[in-house]
Amino acid sequence: KIMNLIDKLETMHSLDTEEYAYLVAGRDDDAAEVLAHKAVSIRKKIYGNAVFVRGLIEISNVCKNNCLYCGIRRSNSSCSRYRLTQEQILGCCQEGYDLGFRTFVLQGGEDPALTDEIICGIVRQIKMNFPDCAVTLSLGEKLRESYQSLFDAGADRYLLRHETANPQHYEKLHPSDMSYFNRMSCLGNLKEIGYQVGCGFMVGSPWQTPDCIAEDLKFIEQFQPAMCGIGPFIPHGATPFKNQAAGTLEMTTYLLSIIRLISPGILLPATTALGTIHPTGREQGILAGANVVMPNLSPVNVRSKYELYDHKICTGEESAECRNCLNNRMQAIGYEIITDRGDPRPYG
Ligand code: 5AD
Repeated sequence: KIMNLIDKLETMHSLDTEEYAYLVAGRDDDAAEVLAHKAVSIRKKIYGNAVFVRGLIEISNVCKNNCLYCGIRRSNSSCSRYRLTQEQILGCCQEGYDLGFRTFVLQGGEDPALTDEIICGIVRQIKMNFPDCAVTLSLGEKLRESYQSLFDAGADRYLLRHETANPQHYEKLHPSDMSYFNRMSCLGNLKEIGYQVGCGFMVGSPWQTPDCIAEDLKFIEQFQPAMCGIGPFIPHGATPFKNQAAGTLEMTTYLLSIIRLISPGILLPATTALGTIHPTGREQGILAGANVVMPNLSPVNVRSKYELYDHKICTGEESAECRNCLNNRMQAIGYEIITDRGDPRPYG
């Protein structure tokens, strides 16, 4: 039955929610291998052996939210807070440009001091200095007007993981000042404004069941994001989830393959979290159907402060080292990181 579902997914790019749940709950090594093979072959038709690269700049770890899983949550008083200046951010972009990056991702907590005016100014500066680059923002939930201003300032893409498509599960991961409804309406607004939008979720977050994952997959199928970020949940020692189990490499790569088949042209990163739970996690992500890597371009002295989860990799290296290391890792498995904005390519 599971092989029939995989064939159906490959041809229809869609399953019923119950079928997704069965595919997830009933997985075994054979199913994973078949899925990965199909995922890689469809991705190769669209992207060849190219891997896109994004330079991640962690612009602030100040956050007004208190997500139970996250190391930079408001209540974590052991987190040493920082905020980059415009000059520092532009410096990171220059360094990245010279290393061949053509997309910069400005990511941060929901920092009230980073007003729309400030971010718009930074986006304008980046687009002026590096007109052949794309700017991606990953700064959390904002009013529709704010998203519009940032788009008008030149931002091309926005990453906002939906975290879970099950409202009850969402409530268990987030305190009551956040809401599933608001998160979903932010994603809708971003899409309507014209951003290339990325959603995504953690694999193995507390209370996640195959039914939750099935809802995530159905949501991705219906929302049709340009990008989807998934990585294992990893506990952070200074959060309420410190004693919870981490998500697994196996489940994450299995889901990467499924998402590739749901949406063949999607941009799918092999995340830092995946590289953190296993030494070759990112390579295995690519070999399961991912096609993006996002090395860190943040100044080395703030890297260990942007700690969403424990034992995060690449917090000591210079940007050039990270870039080289990933080049080598991708080459070793037959892939090549290319100097390109890395826009989604249409399928079919
Ligand atoms: N483990 C893994 N991923 C995490 N994130 C936040 N905290 C953790 C954690 N403990 C993810 C969330 C968020 C993204 C920026 O990082 O999904 O959207």
